Amino acid sequence: MSVHLLDHPLAAHIMTHLRDVTTKPATFRTLAYQLSLLLAIEATRDLATEEKLIQTPLEAATGRVLPHRPLVVVPILRAGLGMVQPFLDTFPDVSVGYLGLERDHTTAVARNYYCKLPPLAGRRVFLVDPMLATGGSAAQAISVAKQHGAANPTLVCIVAAPEGVAEVERHHPGTIIHTAALDRTLNAKKYIVPGLGDFGDRLYGTGA
Ligand code: PRP
Ligand code: URA
Repeated sequence: MSVHLLDHPLAAHIMTHLRDVTTKPATFRTLAYQLSLLLAIEATRDLATEEKLIQTPLEAATGRVLPHRPLVVVPILRAGLGMVQPFLDTFPDVSVGYLGLERDHTTAVARNYYCKLPPLAGRRVFLVDPMLATGGSAAQAISVAKQHGAANPTLVCIVAAPEGVAEVERHHPGTIIHTAALDRTLNAKKYIVPGLGDFGDRLYGTGA
């Protein structure tokens, strides 16, 4: 199992406000962007670079740049959309795929309703989904990504439950998971506790 817990005072600060039930959608979206940016930086720490010779105003110098092999970010709709923009803003050549999964409200089993992915073979693939609860959605998303050629997609989330981490590990051993929080457990309705509630509803203001 490979869980990377984001450890940064700013991440802790943002997470507290995301969890706060009084945080309104407009602020929630900004906080989700900020935390996802920190996660994107952390999750891409191991990207390969190549040498490049450049000329500074003073002399020739050798630097390192990202190769022209775009990475792929795949948000799991719909809540994952709240994590995409930092990747677009930060990485010049990113490709975006979309995967629509929706948990049934009673069974918590995810249904695949949309899939539009670029070729994934030989590319670094980041699946972004803020909530890793039972792990059913993430395990299914990783399977779909692998069917489309991804070798070892990385999962990036905001809050993970131990049950979800274990489920991903059971289906896809060795998957790297980046998360900003590892919470206590799931409640009877399969929501993460303490968690932050329904991420998609809070992001888009669609809650009751
Ligand atoms: C949420 C969340 C994950 C999933 C996690 O999405 O964004 O995709 O639940 O739960 P799991 O680990 O038990 O599968 P949801 O199905 O509520 O859809 P939404 O993004 O459209 O709100
Ligand atoms: N999906 C959410 O948005 N929140 C949870 O706690 C679990 C699944």
